[in-house]
Amino acid sequence: MSYLLGIDIGTSGTKTLLVDEDGNTRASKLVEYPLLTPQPGWAEQHPEEWWRATCQSIQAVLRKSRVKPAEIKGVGLSGQMHGSVFLDEKGNVVRPCILWCDGRTAAECDEIMRTVGPQRMHELVSNPALAGFTAPKVVWLRNHEPEKYAKVRQILLPKDYIRYRLTGAYAAEVSDAAGTVMFDVKNRRWCNELLELLKIPSEWLPPVYESYDVCGHVAPSAARATGLAKGTPVVGGGADNTCGAIGSGIVIEGRVMTSLGSSGVLFTPTDTPRVDPQERLHTFCHSTRRQWYLMGCMLSAGMSLRWYRDQMAEVERAAAKKKQADVYDILMAQAQKTPLGAEGLFFLPYLMGERSPHKDPFARGAFVGLSFRHGKTHMVRAIVEGVTFALRDSLEIMRGLGARLEQVRLIAGGAKSPFWRQVVADVFGLQIAIPKNTEGPAMGAAILAGVGAGVFGDFFETTERILPIASYADPNPQRHEQYDEFYSQFVKLYPALKGHYAEVGRLLKL
Ligand code: XUL
Repeated sequence: MSYLLGIDIGTSGTKTLLVDEDGNTRASKLVEYPLLTPQPGWAEQHPEEWWRATCQSIQAVLRKSRVKPAEIKGVGLSGQMHGSVFLDEKGNVVRPCILWCDGRTAAECDEIMRTVGPQRMHELVSNPALAGFTAPKVVWLRNHEPEKYAKVRQILLPKDYIRYRLTGAYAAEVSDAAGTVMFDVKNRRWCNELLELLKIPSEWLPPVYESYDVCGHVAPSAARATGLAKGTPVVGGGADNTCGAIGSGIVIEGRVMTSLGSSGVLFTPTDTPRVDPQERLHTFCHSTRRQWYLMGCMLSAGMSLRWYRDQMAEVERAAAKKKQADVYDILMAQAQKTPLGAEGLFFLPYLMGERSPHKDPFARGAFVGLSFRHGKTHMVRAIVEGVTFALRDSLEIMRGLGARLEQVRLIAGGAKSPFWRQVVADVFGLQIAIPKNTEGPAMGAAILAGVGAGVFGDFFETTERILPIASYADPNPQRHEQYDEFYSQFVKLYPALKGHYAEVGRLLKL
């Protein structure tokens, strides 16, 4: 039997998954770490924490599964997108990584768009500079921490830093490189013209591979730190969204992935690069063979509920601990006690600003419509509905662009709740399929390792074989109609607050 390892460097933790060649999970382990917010709107993590979590989670799955390290035919990496790991000439980290949900680079995004020009930017990298993407972070470092910028010799994405620690090799792959906006997405290579315009040395960027190419082998020191066999092949791997897509069979046009993780994502593969002329959706490279994808990404999906859990749900957390239950199950049960529409309470899930579709780092969360009648159960329901409405924004844009929405598959934390699944089906007015595999991006990373190691061939054939659908949620026509009316109110709220957000942003000198 051959085994494969998928490692996902996520925002809340690193998950390592060991599967066999039929896609069965043999062991998996999540090791968590904190998200640092040293200033409002900032989000950082220490790459060393990812490495510690990687070593611990690999050791744990080897221990639990009793699989011999030599039987592992390949390792695939997946990770949170857009993060900037700056390394000096010795390969040491220069400062904490600035994450995908960090909103500090509004001025740098303007600077890049002025320098390159919006039209040329669109032609060169298929996307605008948005807060959270990597290039604006490089320019931010030059503008704000010039002494650290002077030390930089290499820029890596989060999972590519873990590759460096595992193999000693500097390498990137197309799906994550696309999210740097320094990458020619259509031709799947670094964009030298853009790098020259921004005066970013091209030698700071590593060689780029396809996601299933082997681009390194586990080094002796990493073998000692993790327990893996030295020389185990490590493939390019992919962005967490492309790996999440592969891990749920989203490898053909017409299928749509909805991910309710820390971020909220709507993702559909395309056989040629397709762009939203208004750039509300991103166009990046898929990790499959010669595919691209359109994606809407909202920054605070599961994170909105996590915020509520941590800040408002002390009683529920205590109850969960006492009953040894999951606090999210308690919150979802509460939400169901409230009628559809939360009796007029709306939630805007923009706690870290918003990417799709508003492209506004200054946007903030809000409860709108509070009355004496409203209590905590209304607030939880409003969060679930508000996050789902915000995802529908991206769905409507995809519809408008003529994308085929033949089958929607729901993955990540939110997919575990039957209540939230039904809300997605009712708000979208579409049938929602729930894949049996709940391992998320780590599964996609393991599949990429299998393709690279020759264990798997075609992506479609493999994913159809090893990733069945567990269940479906069908929309209720009456509830869908009701949600349509609430949604038509939801879409009016951001435009009403946009000017206010910008002014408060100035007031707080964000
Ligand atoms: C996508 C994005 C997020 C992160 C989350 O553009 O920023 O989905 O990849 O890990």
